[in-house]
Amino acid sequence: MMRQTSEGETPAIKKMFCYRFNREHRPMSYYSLYEIPSNDGMTVLDMLDYAARHLDPSLSYPMHSRCDQGLCARCALRVNGKPVLSCIEICGEEILIVEPLDKKRVCKDLVSYP
Ligand code: FES
Repeated sequence: MMRQTSEGETPAIKKMFCYRFNREHRPMSYYSLYEIPSNDGMTVLDMLDYAARHLDPSLSYPMHSRCDQGLCARCALRVNGKPVLSCIEICGEEILIVEPLDKKRVCKDLVSYP
């Protein structure tokens, strides 16, 4: 969910490239670009929620149904090459590249087999 800044500023637009893979429809992986209105308090998982709810419902990613507090590590992803817990990671970069931790274990898009 997008959060408003305390000063009521217009959120900045961040570019988020998400790793995509669906063996049933396309044998090769690719990246989708989403432009996300973002503010300082928005986590990577919040940005993925926005993309899936408002831009592309076909995007699969670890959802908030887990702990959402940085405890279970089920939301672990790689952002700009760095492993993060996406539910607590607030990314200040203007461009994000979001990938699964291990592309060999991908079930679909950003979701991996346990
Ligand atoms: S959802 Fe549990 S650590 Fe992120």
